[in-house]
Amino acid sequence: MKGIVLAGGLGSRLHPLTKITNKHLLPIYNRPMIYYPIQTLVDAGITEILIVTGGRNAGDFLQLLGNGKAFGLKHLDYTYQEGEGGIAAALSLAEYFVDRDLVCVILGDNIYEKSVLDSVANFIQLGRGAKIHLKKVDHPQRFGVPIISGDRIVKIEEKPKQPKSEYAVTGLYMYDPTVFEIIKTLKPSGRGELEITDVNNAYIERDEMTYAIVDGWWSDAGTFDSLLRSNILVASQAESDSEEISPAALQASASILRQQ
Ligand code: G1P
Repeated sequence: MKGIVLAGGLGSRLHPLTKITNKHLLPIYNRPMIYYPIQTLVDAGITEILIVTGGRNAGDFLQLLGNGKAFGLKHLDYTYQEGEGGIAAALSLAEYFVDRDLVCVILGDNIYEKSVLDSVANFIQLGRGAKIHLKKVDHPQRFGVPIISGDRIVKIEEKPKQPKSEYAVTGLYMYDPTVFEIIKTLKPSGRGELEITDVNNAYIERDEMTYAIVDGWWSDAGTFDSLLRSNILVASQAESDSEEISPAALQASASILRQQ
């Protein structure tokens, strides 16, 4: 199983914070944002990891992450995305790296509280198709939203005005290598991007989509509010882990913010 961290994009919803740096280098409590998705992959037992980035700050990732020593890795791979094109376009750059293997893709601004090791292990055992990870949220219209019938996902709608479920499709996806054939058939969406939701809908149409519900909290960090929320959630977890301080205020904020 290969791992891909998608860390390109303009981060325009975070201007001016992202005017002179890449979103994924911004701090989440005591670490740069990209540390969290890399750690999620490493904790799931994935050691062959490709970082896809672009723009003017691409070199900063190399300087920051090097060969992945901070994560106990011996090596990290990098590739450069020229221009914008959406999540699926960024993923298509990983075809040479994934080859005939399975792949676990994580968005560079998605933070998961708990390990996804079990979900990854189950998918490796299954060995084909695709798998997505859902979380109940307060404002599903910000995300990809599944339409669920019984225990089957029948379709995913990208940022629907009237969501048909309370779930968000979070930024952790697993695919078999046919994903690259699917991406080649995609057309740009209304926002001019190759959408990961269209990739997922192709697997749903082939009846090859499975899903898991995310255990623990999950947050993205692409807007001011979700960036703040991620910081508070990570900080309150770090401090409760260390047991040095009793961060009553942070704990209270975290419980309020736990729903997004
Ligand atoms: C992307 C996906 C969306 C998903 C979200 C998770 O949205 O398009 O389906 O729910 O990531 O963070 P974006 O943040 O690019 O708007």
